[in-house]
Order: sequence, then C-alpha cells, then structure tokens
Amino acid sequence: MELKTKIHEVFQKHFGEPGTVYASAGRINLIGEHTDYNGGFVFPGAIDKVIMAEIAPNDTDKVRVYSIDIDDYAEFGLNEVDAPEASWARYIFGVCREILKRGGVVKGFDAVFAGNVPLGAGLSSSAALESCFAFALNDLFNDNQIDKFELARIGQSTEHNYCGVNCGIMDQFASVMGQKGKLMRLDCRSMEFEYYPFNPEGYELVLIDSRVKHELADSPYNKRRQSCERVAKRLGIETLRDATIEMLDSIRTDITAEDYFRAKFVIEEKDRVLAVCDALNAGDYETVGNKMYETHRGLSYDYEVSCEELDFLNDIAKECGVTGSRIMGGGFGGCTINLVKKELRDSFVDTAKKKFNEKYGHEPKVYPVVISDGAHKEE
Ligand code: GLA
Repeated sequence: MELKTKIHEVFQKHFGEPGTVYASAGRINLIGEHTDYNGGFVFPGAIDKVIMAEIAPNDTDKVRVYSIDIDDYAEFGLNEVDAPEASWARYIFGVCREILKRGGVVKGFDAVFAGNVPLGAGLSSSAALESCFAFALNDLFNDNQIDKFELARIGQSTEHNYCGVNCGIMDQFASVMGQKGKLMRLDCRSMEFEYYPFNPEGYELVLIDSRVKHELADSPYNKRRQSCERVAKRLGIETLRDATIEMLDSIRTDITAEDYFRAKFVIEEKDRVLAVCDALNAGDYETVGNKMYETHRGLSYDYEVSCEELDFLNDIAKECGVTGSRIMGGGFGGCTINLVKKELRDSFVDTAKKKFNEKYGHEPKVYPVVISDGAHKEE
C-alpha cells in the first residue's frame, strides 16, 4: 500500500479529521565523510526514500504520536521535563523543544508517521524524521518563518541534546535542502553551498546494504569527533579545515598515533571533495571513482569506521571493475555507495549478492539511487 494511504488510515482510525501530510528524505553522500564537524566540505543529495507524517494541531498542550513502523505510541508534553522514554519519540520531542528554545511556537498536535528509509543503513533515517517534523511544525505553527538552514540546525541540535549523537550538519542539511536530480556541495564552515546537477552519463550509483546495523548513539562516532577536536586544539586552530599534513606532522610526536591517523584522514578527505568536484566538472568519472576508493581505504585503515562486511563489499566492487566504491555515512555498518558503469551494474550486483551470501549467510540489499526532493508538504 502507498505510504500516504497507510498513514492516513491509521490517522483516521485514531484521530478522525484528516491532518496535513509532510515528508522528508534520507540522503546519500558522494564524498566527504566525517568532514562536516571538521568545518570541511560534503557532497550529499536527498534520495527517494522518506519519512512521512500526517499531523494536525489538537488544541491541547500534548503531543500524541503513532509510529507505524515501530508499532508504538507516545504521548508527551512540551516542557523539558516531559521527555518521553522511547528513543524514537525523543527525536520528535527534541525537534519541538529546539523550536521552542529558539523562540518559535509549538502547540499540541496529533501525528502518525511511517517511512521507507531503511533503519541503520547509513541513509539518515533519523535526519529524515527530524526534518519532516521540523518542516511540518514550521508550516503548522510558525508561518514558515524559520529559515531552512535553521530547520537543519534544529534537527542537528536534537541529535546532540536528546539523542546522544554529536553529529555534524550534513544529514539534516541534505534532508531539508535536497532537490531532485541535484547533489549539493556544502562548505560546512561558511554554510555556503551549490547545487550540482548529477547525471553521470553511462554510470549509475548503487547502494549495497551490508545489513550490519549501525548505532551511532554512545558510539565510537563521538570519540572520532573528540580526536579531531583534540588535534585542532593542539594545533591552535578552530577546526581541521585549516590543517595541512605538514602541520599535523609537526606535532606527530605530541599526539597519540590514533589521533594522528584520525586527523590525517580528515585532512586528506576534505581535499578529495574538491578534487571530485573538479573531476565531475570535467566529466572525469575515473578520477571520481578513484577518490571514492581512497576514501574507503582512509575510513577503513585510518579512521577505523569500517567493518569486515563493508571491506568485503568494497573488495568485490574492485574485482568487478566498479569505477568507485566506498563505505557511506557515519560507518560501523550500513551501505557502500558504488559508481558503476551501466553495462556492469547487473553483473556486479549479482556477484556481490552471491559472494556476500556465501560468506555471511545472507544477501545484502540493493538500492538504486534516485536523487530527489528534500523536506516538503505533500500535495
Ligand atoms: C553521520 C553524521 C553526519 C556525518 C556522517 C559522516 O551521518 O550524522 O553528520 O558526520 O556521519 O560523514
């Protein structure tokens, strides 16, 4: 059944009168991983997988919300002390609180939501959920007066303050700002960005989901960020955006080997994003692909956020002659993103499924990438 119809049926059953329907997207990232919280560049786009919610103000001071996918219900007030127990509901509570903290308006509402962004696959289902509600509450209670960047920041602060993930801005930015057919190159220091029409002739982007679940809360993710911040502090700069390998080498003996390699990855990665932009402008997909493999190696050996299954998928891609392949998102599981020539696509996907199944006893999931619009109100 269509997502919207399914949501509406549940909404009608529990709340009666129809509400307004909003959706926001998951994201991919072509290149630029773990650079966002280091003031570097990222290159994401929204995808055709969304979290969708039907919402109606209820003239009370309570939020009542059903999650269809988790098959759970939560009810909470809008004061700090009202934080719900269920982790899924904290995303929504956090968005409400962050809007209120910024002087915005949130009143009681009823909501039902569901989605088709795979959970824990590195496609930012949580950012899609935050962005969906931030966009909706801006429309329902704030006359759309909160600008879109701030909506993304509201989602990011929700992660920091209510969900325990000290994330950067990339996921929420992509989820809110995404446009059909376009990637975005975002400078996470100045927040300047550019839309990049992405239609690589003769190539396709394919996601291969290892189905190893990643959980970023309380995870080594926050530790990676701390390593970067320690090195920046030691160098006397605000973020690693301003660091060079020479600078890093000059303090090598003063920092731990672990911090050294974390920072090395970030410094190299921010340059790779710029190289990929140039290569895309020149239609040079071989270079784009090589940079993706370099990112994978860096994420695996230096940043250490890969896992056996993702390294295995990356090796298969290489063996199959895939142009570019790498782990995507925060890491510790989830998907690889693959830039593959159209004529190789089917044989690559078949080989990846077969070999992965032989080794791990289950097939990976495969998702084509369709670059789509970000947060919006449904017609
Ligand atoms: C997660 C975070 C993002 C970003 C990526 C890694 O998705 O939410 O802010 O740091 O990891 O690039």
